[in-house]
Amino acid sequence: MSFDFTAKRVLVTGGTRGIGAATVEAFLDAGARLAVNGRSVQSTEKALTHLPTEAFGVAGDVASASDCWSIVASAVAEMGGLDVLVNCAGVARGSTVESVTEADWDDVLDINLKGTFFCIQAALPHLRASQGNVVNLASDAGLIGEVGLAVYCASKGGVVNLTRALALELAPDVRVNCVCPGYVDTDMVRRDVINASGDPRAAERTLAASAPLNRIAPPAEIATAILYLASDHARFITGSALQIDGGTTAGHPRASPEK
Ligand SMILES: NC(=O)c1ccc[n+]([C@@H]2O[C@H](COP(=O)([O-])OP(=O)(O)OC[C@H]3O[C@@H](n4cnc5c(N)ncnc54)[C@H](O)[C@@H]3O)[C@@H](O)[C@H]2O)c1
Repeated sequence: MSFDFTAKRVLVTGGTRGIGAATVEAFLDAGARLAVNGRSVQSTEKALTHLPTEAFGVAGDVASASDCWSIVASAVAEMGGLDVLVNCAGVARGSTVESVTEADWDDVLDINLKGTFFCIQAALPHLRASQGNVVNLASDAGLIGEVGLAVYCASKGGVVNLTRALALELAPDVRVNCVCPGYVDTDMVRRDVINASGDPRAAERTLAASAPLNRIAPPAEIATAILYLASDHARFITGSALQIDGGTTAGHPRASPEK
């Protein structure tokens, strides 16, 4: 699918690597101007070294509401407004219930859920002015439960329902949607899960097999869905949670026993 975002002004939080970086590249290819957020000045500058001048950096930690405000303010000051906000910054911390600390809980909820809300709050006057839209990164883990990921599931379930609530509250001026990817080949999965396991090949096979389509996705496939939801092709879509998960959340994959 091809998209035209010529002259559109886009902010991608967590745009320095993984799905965020693929989304930045896809928007640039479609003609947009990009504000790329990274948590630190260093990670933001590093990400910009291979990007064209249509992209510039806005460092800031989305776990802090005041940083959300300054990230959006810097993006708007540089681009003269905002048409699309993509809330991509996120973290996952896998652990059993017994070993979750208060710091883990705060980190995951503050980055994934609170950061998403306060970036939208900060962006709202600018998105109203442009009749723009928001795409949030939820997850299949926001639609179904996953063992060892209770806190992450809670945060992403929050993102799904935050998306729906804000879609209602901000209509008809601003559309709000989210994507719900399954396993995607980024640091969050390749580095932190597959390569961190005792047997990376077996770990990758297990993750792939959890999806009926039997693979993990390249980040570009998620970026395409994000651009679709942000584009005019999706102008009648708001409040949706688009699954891009190889069928993981479609239902139970096994056939019924014979009668
Ligand atoms: N990889 C997957 O399988 C998968 C599946 C479903 C949903 N997601 C979601 O997609 C999003 C992107 O994940 P990814 O796989 O690209 O992960 P990643 O770890 O490769 O990238 C995460 C990005 O978020 C940024 N970030 C983290 N904390 C931040 C903070 N406090 N402030 C600003 N930026 C911060 C990182 O710097 C990085 O750019 C996340 O919200 C994640 O939960 C990922």
